Amino acid sequence: MNSEFWNNYYQEQSTIWTQPDEVFAAEVAELTSGNALELGAGEGADCLFLAKSGWQVTAIDFSQKAIDRINQQADLQQLTITTDVADILNYQSTQQYDLVYMVFIHLPLAERKQMLANAVNALAPGGTLLFIGIASSDMDCGQDVSHLFSPAKDIAALLLEVTPDLHIDKQDHINRTIPMPDKTSFKAETIIVKANKLP
Ligand SMILES: C[S@@+](CC[C@H](N)C(=O)[O-])C[C@H]1O[C@@H](n2cnc3c(N)ncnc32)[C@H](O)[C@@H]1O
Repeated sequence: MNSEFWNNYYQEQSTIWTQPDEVFAAEVAELTSGNALELGAGEGADCLFLAKSGWQVTAIDFSQKAIDRINQQADLQQLTITTDVADILNYQSTQQYDLVYMVFIHLPLAERKQMLANAVNALAPGGTLLFIGIASSDMDCGQDVSHLFSPAKDIAALLLEVTPDLHIDKQDHINRTIPMPDKTSFKAETIIVKANKLP
């Protein structure tokens, strides 16, 4: 799915996600605030939440529409978020971050590996990498999208393939029901991978 797909997706509907993901919120509550980089920030519910919690956040997405929404919300809520319209597969950070995270970014294996390598490169020694996604999907979209999803152990293994300079702190699965803003919900086996870059 390219940036045109995502621009159309955001163009066609008003704001969808206004609340941070609850698993994300619980995971970052355990961390000391610092600077953070979000790869594939979408409409920004998570980075806005983080900025409100005292973090200095940089949010990257290749959809201009998504970044426009984050900027609008940051202005409305009087928060400072650095945003950039950029491809997370080519993204070479010039800064190092205490936290680099991705929430619901599902990519084919080669791209997933590239994204994780870029995420690790942007991580400061001692920093935390957080990946939250879904393990599998029963989405009825008329296509086989099973290659986009993977269990936590595969993400953790991929991270260690990218660099051995990581300690995997968590690789969990949670069965949960995710509430949708329109009051519906869907069941998703959520994966959490949390790693620390060795000092
Ligand atoms: C399913 S949405 C998740 C958004 C957000 N993380 C959340 O949880 O609400 C996926 C997002 O990743 C972005 N994205 C996908 N591939 C990307 C790429 N190669 N570079 C930058 N952004 C990308 C899309 O534009 C979209 O906003």
